[in-house]
Amino acid sequence: GPLALLFGGKSSERQISLKSGNAILEALQRQEIPVTVIDPADANWMEKLADHQNAFIALHGPGGEDGTIQGALECLGVNYTGSGVMASALAMDKLRCKRLWLGEGLSTPHFMELHADSDWQATSDILGQAIVKPACEGSSIGMSRADNAEELRTAWQLAKDYGRVFAEQWVTGAEFTVAILNGEALPAIRLETDASFYDFNAKYISNDTRYHCPSGLSEAKEREIQQLALAAFEAVGCRDWGRVDVMQSESGHFYLLEVNTIPGMTDHSLVPMAAKQAGLDFDQLVLRVLSSSLE
Ligand code: DAL
Ligand code: MG
Repeated sequence: GPLALLFGGKSSERQISLKSGNAILEALQRQEIPVTVIDPADANWMEKLADHQNAFIALHGPGGEDGTIQGALECLGVNYTGSGVMASALAMDKLRCKRLWLGEGLSTPHFMELHADSDWQATSDILGQAIVKPACEGSSIGMSRADNAEELRTAWQLAKDYGRVFAEQWVTGAEFTVAILNGEALPAIRLETDASFYDFNAKYISNDTRYHCPSGLSEAKEREIQQLALAAFEAVGCRDWGRVDVMQSESGHFYLLEVNTIPGMTDHSLVPMAAKQAGLDFDQLVLRVLSSSLE
């Protein structure tokens, strides 16, 4: 039967998912693969899935990337691309990932969970310059920089409607990302933005964000970041494909930020860029994700 392509959804990353999904849809159509488009925001999405054996999931954020859809597909006996229920749920939760990585001896910036009754001054004294993040969002939604107690409280207020919130020590240096495909790391990408961090605007709107792939790292450092990304991916139990975001401090040390189990596939997105550097065009990338996931 046709392949079900799931995109849209109800998360705050819906608009990104529509772009990822449409790009994937066009690639599948170019390859003449029969596709049924299904949007889980549609109340009848499960009925539309009847008679489908395989699904490509191009949903981002809670309700699509966090194990819930994956669990539904498991129950319905439908094969799907990407990580399973447990790894998807864990990867969506940056706080729990960071705790897991620390337990595995993998570096991630210092952090503290924030609450209504947090001691803002003490938190600020411990972390110094920080970035405040909702634990379970994507695309930098709800994130802001906070360099003192007052800014921490304000940043927490901006983030708290998205659920649990933490402050992470700001790493001065460069941001990198490493795509994983078929359990292997692709060439790292170095991101350069004039914004104070790689925020939603820098990710999807600005044309001033610069991407470097090859990353400019030495061969040894490139190997190190790829190995770190793979170790982070495997520690969470992820499979098939994904993208691991990493900061490098000015002294050259790498720190894990997060793993994305369904990375963006828009024309501004990073996995397609890394795949290109590895010699795979967009269509080949889509086919590789499909074939690694579905027999
Ligand atoms: N969460 C977005 C889609 C990404 O990581 O690419
Ligand atoms: Mg993310």
